[in-house]
This record gives sequence, structure tokens and C-alpha cells, in this order.
Amino acid sequence: MSAESAAPAEIVIRQPDDWHVHLRDGAWLGDLAGHTARQFARAIVMPNLAPPVTTSAMAADYRQRIRAALPAGSTFEPLMTAYLTDHSDPADLAAGHGDGVLVAAKLYPAHATTNSAHGVSDAGLIDPVLETMARIGMPLLVHGEVTDSAIDIFDREAVFIERVMAPLLARHPGLKVVFEHITTREAALFVADAGPNVAATITPHHLQINRNAMFAGGIRPHAYCLPVAKREVHRLALRAAATGGSGKFFLGTDTAPHAVEAKEAACGCAGIFNAPHALECYAEVFDEEGALAHFEGFASLNGPAFYGLPVNPGRVRLVRGGERVAERVAAGGRAIVPYRAGEVLGWRFAGQLD
Ligand code: DOR
Ligand code: ZN
Repeated sequence: MSAESAAPAEIVIRQPDDWHVHLRDGAWLGDLAGHTARQFARAIVMPNLAPPVTTSAMAADYRQRIRAALPAGSTFEPLMTAYLTDHSDPADLAAGHGDGVLVAAKLYPAHATTNSAHGVSDAGLIDPVLETMARIGMPLLVHGEVTDSAIDIFDREAVFIERVMAPLLARHPGLKVVFEHITTREAALFVADAGPNVAATITPHHLQINRNAMFAGGIRPHAYCLPVAKREVHRLALRAAATGGSGKFFLGTDTAPHAVEAKEAACGCAGIFNAPHALECYAEVFDEEGALAHFEGFASLNGPAFYGLPVNPGRVRLVRGGERVAERVAAGGRAIVPYRAGEVLGWRFAGQLD
């Protein structure tokens, strides 16, 4: 390999999509959506608002609010999801999917994370919904953590595989499932070994930090998210999965903004706001792993293939040598501490090419 191809000065890839975002609602929605829309053509929008987006009609309204809040002229496409509850109506989900309003539905185990109190208390209760989804080819997006407080927080994803994910797939072998924001070696291996109907998103932060980041010289609330970052062995397994060229793994940032005072608190919220520089962080990982040849697949091709959507027509460019990340980002009158605040990144997003 030539020196130039080993360390290229720029990267040009198909415009990517973000298959897992939290855009929130209200005054900061437009600014938050703007950060995602700067880099990504489309994004799967998670439905954990308060109250949650549980029906097709609510998803259609939320999509309208997102579109109205976007910067003028934006072509960004929000891909909407429904929040599953014990009482979800299969007919409504199927109608929403048929209308093109609902791309997927999200399974939050009740009380697993932010605004999940109305989530599913037992996955067996929604088997009729999952049967319908399997029949119509509607993907199920899964927050894969058990909520049993007797299970150590660092084990909740691995235990979820045994207790919930594997039995669910055994009951619904044809269902398309995205194991969201995987954080463990166990999850990466499970997805790699599963059928082509099972895929996973991986966040930039789970590729870049391990659990030590939460305790570096003191408690670091801005490194706290759910599922929580795990040991180094898991981070390395995630990097191998993301950069190894498999079509089963794709980009999903789980960008999850909380105002600074909600993070820096006695009981701080879970979530890392990585939207402003997500693509640069992923580029660092692929570059460090010597795997830039697989970057476009992960960022721009595998997700559309799994969801059955066309790839984006445009291209984006990144150039080597990054900028310093702001200490604070303003959104709708709130201040947010972004992922990598104050650090200089290895790459800079240079925008769309055509
Ligand atoms: O860290 C997280 N934040 N994990 C989630 O599952 C939800 C998200 C949020 O909405 O804040
Ligand atoms: Zn999320």
C-alpha cells in the first residue's frame, strides 16, 4: 500500500444516514435537528418524548414538527418510529407503516432508560404486534438491557440477550431486528452469528471510550449514557465489528442531548450529545483501525440495505486535521456539553460535494 493510501488527506463517501437519534421536541428541536441534518441525509428518530410517540398519528405530528423546525431549504428526512407499550395496536402500526409514516417501532423495556416508563413490561405481551411487524417487514429496534436491579448494570445487555433477545427471535424468526447501540462483545458476536434479519447500530462513543471515562480524575457525567460504556475488551470487540466490513453493523449515534444542568446533577441524565461531530469521530476510529475502506459501508450503505431504502445520491467529504470541539453548544436557549468538548479532532467535516 502506498503512503498516500495508508494515510489519505481526505475521505469522500456517499452521504451517510444516522440510524439512531434523539431530536427531542419544542424550543430546541430545530437546533438539534440542524446538527444532525448538517451531516446526515436521513435519521431514525427515536420516540421517547414525554409523552411518548406511541401511535401513527402522533408520529405524523412529530414528523411535521421536525420538518417545520428544520433550517429553510433543508432536505433532511426524519424516519419516524413508534414507541411500543404493552397496549400497542398492531393495526395502527401496520397502517402507519403502510402510509410511510412509520419506518420502524422501538422496544424499550419499561424503566430501562430516559422516558421509558411506558415501555414494554414483558416482551411476550407484544407477540401479536411482533407477528404483524414480521409479516409486513417492519423492523423492530431494541434497547437491549434487562431492567432487573439484581443484575449488575454492566451485565444488563449480555443478560438481555439470553433472557429476551434470543427467545424473541426464536418466537419470530423472520422479524427484522436492530440491536441498538450495542456495547458488549456478547452483543457483537450474537449479531454476527444471527441471520441476515438481525443487525446492530454502534455509537461513536462506545467505539472511543470505555467505562474508565466516567471516572477519570473524578465523576464525569458527560461520559454517562445507557447502555453504559463497558470494559476495554468490549470496546475493542465493537471496533472490530464496526470496522471489519460486515454489512450487519451500521452507524447510529444515539445522540442524546440533555441541558448541562440536567447532566451535572446529583442524579444526572443518561445521554451523550455527539451530533455536532459524529462523522469525524467515526472517521477517527476507521482511520486508527486502518479500515477506511470499510467506512462508507458502515456509514452510508449497510443501513439503507437493511432497511430496504435507496442509498443517498450525494457525497460528503472529510479532511484530515480537525477543529477543536466547543465547550458548550447552544440549542433553543439551553446549553449542552457536546461529546469530546474541548478536544481537537483528527478529521474535519467539509460538507457535501454535489
Ligand atoms: O443514554 C441514553 N440516552 N440512552 C438512552 O437509551 C436514551 C437516551 C435519551 O433519550 O436521553
Ligand atoms: Zn437512544
